[in-house]
Amino acid sequence: MYKINDNYLKLPGSYLFSTIGKKVAAYSAEHPEKEIIRLGIGDVTQPLAPAIIEALHKAVDEMGHAETFHGYAPDLGYEFLRKAIAEHDFQARGADIQADEIFVSDGAKCDAGNIQEIFSTDNKIAVCDPVYPVYVDTNVMAGRTGTYDPKTETWSDVIYMPCTAENGFAPELPKETPDLIYLCFPNNPTGSTITKAQLQEWVDYANQVGAVIIYDAAYEAYISEPDVPHTIYECEGARTCAIELRSFSKNAGFTGVRLGCTVIPKDLKCGEVSLHALWARRHGTKYNGAPYIVQRAGEAVYSPEGQAQLKAQVAYYMNNAKTILEGLKSAGYTVSGGVNAPYIWLKTPEGMDSWAFFDYLLENAGVVGTPGSGFGPSGEGYFRLTAFGSYENTVAALERIQKL
Ligand code: MLT
Repeated sequence: MYKINDNYLKLPGSYLFSTIGKKVAAYSAEHPEKEIIRLGIGDVTQPLAPAIIEALHKAVDEMGHAETFHGYAPDLGYEFLRKAIAEHDFQARGADIQADEIFVSDGAKCDAGNIQEIFSTDNKIAVCDPVYPVYVDTNVMAGRTGTYDPKTETWSDVIYMPCTAENGFAPELPKETPDLIYLCFPNNPTGSTITKAQLQEWVDYANQVGAVIIYDAAYEAYISEPDVPHTIYECEGARTCAIELRSFSKNAGFTGVRLGCTVIPKDLKCGEVSLHALWARRHGTKYNGAPYIVQRAGEAVYSPEGQAQLKAQVAYYMNNAKTILEGLKSAGYTVSGGVNAPYIWLKTPEGMDSWAFFDYLLENAGVVGTPGSGFGPSGEGYFRLTAFGSYENTVAALERIQKL
């Protein structure tokens, strides 16, 4: 008789955004007359920029002719895209990353979930609390997290690094030494950032204790302040201790198209074993790359038109963030984030936990957000709104919230 991977049975409930989706669908079915505004999941709403559409059309046409047809993409991605990423996202920022250290993929979410496969299940992970749920969920699936305590909503073998108002939603170095450290800045869900000097401390720490940092830079395009690093490789020594995940979803609208990349420097080694080689081996076997036409669309993001259009989209969402921040402040809420990130983190009203506030907002304002406790125990008492809605919906949501 076959056996299942019973680590999956340890996962409490469904994936956070599936739970929210089901709740909202049930509410909509009961109240079909209510117009719901969705500021919950961080999904973009603006159409792909013209430069990207043009590149997609051109690549689709190429696929229709024998001379320009493309079959399987190279395991690690097309050179034209890897070069563009290396030059624009790293070398232009003084970060020493070469094209052949970049692995093109079908999105940062997949890579964030899959990267743990190259590490032993004995490794101990450290995560920010609250945290993007994919990091912990996928380590649970792998059997790396011990037992779940429903009372504290924590796993016995996970090191939680609380990110609270007291520490500016920036984690402190853990007391217990981890093997793998997940960091995401600008942060999902709190919208917080750390300075280059703070990130340098993490890099120094990881090199000192022999840990690997898995750095999620998905929201890098939203950085507006000069002392916030755009990549961990701006820090000295990061090549020997850090893997970086990047996305085309949040900056260029590829959530439905799927494109991302993972950087593993060739200097990152566990003893004699190159992590780059292990990830390349995995890509060869379990290919989760992106199709030719999507990689051409990704290349177009780096053209002068693509860059201008990307900047315009980021500015559009950040104007929403400003609208949310100012609207919530004037309604008396305590808020943070939203300056270098498309997420706004607000304190729920006294006496209301984060799921109670979710229901309250849905029922009384028809606005969907994400309860902070869904991201971890330190998220209790907080709530996340995203700036990824349309401007009209964002304004309407704030008007409704202000009337409560
Ligand atoms: C979120 O809402 O946290 C993100 O959209 C989820 C994701 O990017 O997978």
